[in-house]
Amino acid sequence: MAEKERWGSRIGLVLAAAGNAVGIGNLLRFPSQAANNGGGAFMIPYLVCLLVFGLPMMWIAWSVGRYGGKHGHSTLPGMFDKMWKNPASKYLGVLGLALPLLFCLYYTYIEAWCLSYAWFSLTGQIVDKPGYTVDLAVFYNEYLGNATSHSYFPNLGTALTFLLITITLNIWVLGRGIAKGIELLAKIAMPALLLFCLLLSIRVLTLGKLEGTALDGLNFLYTPDFTRLKDPNTWMAAAGQIFFTLSIGFGAMECYASYVRSKEDIALAGTTTAATNEFVEVIFGSMIAIPAAAIFFGPAMITTIASTGSFSIGMISMPEILRHFPLLKFFGTIWFLLLFFAAFTSSVAVCQPIIAFLQDEVKLSRKAASAIVGMIWFLGTIPIMFFYKYGVFDEFDYWAGTIGLVIVAIVEVIIFAYIFGVDRGWKELHEGAFIKIPKIFKFIIKYVTPVALIGVFIGWASNPSVPADKALLWNVADRSSYPGKFSSTPTDETTQIQSRVYDALGKVKRDLTGWAEVELSADGAIRVIDFTADSSLRAVMDDQVFQQWLASQNFRYEVNRQTAAASITIGVEALYRTPYIWLARMIMIFFFVLFLFLIGTVWRQRHHPAA
Ligand code: TRP
Repeated sequence: MAEKERWGSRIGLVLAAAGNAVGIGNLLRFPSQAANNGGGAFMIPYLVCLLVFGLPMMWIAWSVGRYGGKHGHSTLPGMFDKMWKNPASKYLGVLGLALPLLFCLYYTYIEAWCLSYAWFSLTGQIVDKPGYTVDLAVFYNEYLGNATSHSYFPNLGTALTFLLITITLNIWVLGRGIAKGIELLAKIAMPALLLFCLLLSIRVLTLGKLEGTALDGLNFLYTPDFTRLKDPNTWMAAAGQIFFTLSIGFGAMECYASYVRSKEDIALAGTTTAATNEFVEVIFGSMIAIPAAAIFFGPAMITTIASTGSFSIGMISMPEILRHFPLLKFFGTIWFLLLFFAAFTSSVAVCQPIIAFLQDEVKLSRKAASAIVGMIWFLGTIPIMFFYKYGVFDEFDYWAGTIGLVIVAIVEVIIFAYIFGVDRGWKELHEGAFIKIPKIFKFIIKYVTPVALIGVFIGWASNPSVPADKALLWNVADRSSYPGKFSSTPTDETTQIQSRVYDALGKVKRDLTGWAEVELSADGAIRVIDFTADSSLRAVMDDQVFQQWLASQNFRYEVNRQTAAASITIGVEALYRTPYIWLARMIMIFFFVLFLFLIGTVWRQRHHPAA
């Protein structure tokens, strides 16, 4: 049997593990979650979750991982099998293969966006030029194929190109192995990441005062609103963030831990990983995006901006802010490279388990394993990319990036604390360790963590925020006739009209489209001249309703060339997402079944090797 791979050095191990944890979650998801969930009030449940299951699961992951590594296993099926002599254990471990693979499929797509945006910043494609205005929201949605227009991107070609580059880079690093690939990447990317964070924080903190100051942003993030603590959603959001940011509940940290030497201080390594992650998240995650938004849009707007989601903070608001200051190309590029590096060191981590599984259990060479995974990776990302607007991406995120994590963590903590035994586990964690984890955590792991995790699971299961099965897209169809920018603040009426459209969609069960001729006048008034649409759409949305609908959005637009009236075409698409959501589920089930089958075969052969 081939010698098990090892990390080259302790510093390399620490950087790689930190790279695993530090990702998009730290720089985009954290600020948006915090801003959406009461600012400072979020930090209290966040800290509680960190102590109650974040740190405990991190230590468990390192113990389980090193223990499995000693027995030649780098993935959960083999690890669980060693810890729990029960035929079911390896099948439970399948979660630790299928989930990271599924996660990886859409996470690398985000990574590819960051790389492409770094390129767009560097080449100045997101800066206004005479006769060319960039509405960053439309730009972003067109890039993803999530718009009714094609002014900046004729098709998904650009997105596809950057996706290919990203996957190739990942496979290249993974194919080089643990020490020469992942570790080397971390040694370059992590210091660069910290430097970029520092540069951007300094830039933001020295922007001065516009609509607000950087301090307004920090105040917003760190002034607790205690009434929000009564809201279970705040707690659920905090729990979700802790899971996501620490990379726990996937078997990815376990996989990294399996490559340490048997006497490595894993208590320290786990603690350092969590500490580095928290440092980047709480310090830099709150020092860049939110203060920048406070300066540029004013403190009152932060919640509104945050409510549009992590990606729009990263891909729309941040470049919007940065491009109004000198050195846009430089700082814009740095911002997106920062996100890209953060994502890169996480995506290799999340993909390594599948490669390791093919190496350890299926006995493929590393190159062969990487090539196969690269192919699956690319093919698997295609539906996520092409059917983005149908919610395939969200569906993956929901099952793999949210629900799945908790299930794995529950299984893992029960195996660790009750089957393997918390005393044995505690000894395993401290073997070779210089530091001692406070004894209280032994108690927490046994009694508090499982209960907390089950609570989180019940919370999610009873109040699922499933991706919408219907959507309504609209935007200015031909931007050459009107290159200005639009913004809107939808009201209840918008929602009402929208739900009538959704009812119609539910009846016809297919996409509906429409086009509206609209006149914009210099004083801000909007008049619908004509609305043509699919008859089923037209039945619920005629000229008048469309006019009402636009009015209910408190439409604002920027006439940037002159204050003359303009006539524009607005494209509308009502999407019936259900079949695509089922497609996503089928893909997910397919991978689960495939891995279950693979595990069954591998283990049978081990006990009855073919003659
Ligand atoms: N922690 C990563 C981030 O903050 C995302 C992530 C979640 C992850 N689970 C993971 C990365 C497992 C690698 C492995 O963006």
